[in-house]
Amino acid sequence: MNILVINGPNLNLLGERQTDIYGENTLEELMMWLETSEEGRNHDFKFYQSNHEGTIIDAIHDEREWANAIIINAGAFSHYSYAIRDAISSVAINTVEVHLSNIMERENFRKISVLKDICLDQIYGLGKNSYIEALRKIQENFNNE
Ligand code: DQA
Repeated sequence: MNILVINGPNLNLLGERQTDIYGENTLEELMMWLETSEEGRNHDFKFYQSNHEGTIIDAIHDEREWANAIIINAGAFSHYSYAIRDAISSVAINTVEVHLSNIMERENFRKISVLKDICLDQIYGLGKNSYIEALRKIQENFNNE
């Protein structure tokens, strides 16, 4: 499968940003780990990171012919970006929303996701394993289709 992995604002600072919450790995290490994992080995990946809402929307549009599935950690945009939600709905590609941290046990504003109900699943709180779990969900869904 062709899998588009999108990481949103501030995730470029992984490894130095609030490491007690987000872990010690850089984004590059994390994405490399995902690509070479047991679960990732049979897929082709494209990785995007942007701090800008419009750039994330453009990536979803631009890769809509290529991607069979999307894994998105939209960072704080997850909590309020109806525009990213609409972009995902517009391309109708199976998408899993991920978060490294446990968004249900942090500030109240993080408990709301405007992406959740248009995604295949929402995975949070597993650290980097949230991304692997997302891959599993995508594979599971593909096998059941
Ligand atoms: C995050 C959780 C969001 O609330 C936060 O704004 C992030 C990262 C996570 O991966 O845990 O930037 O998406």
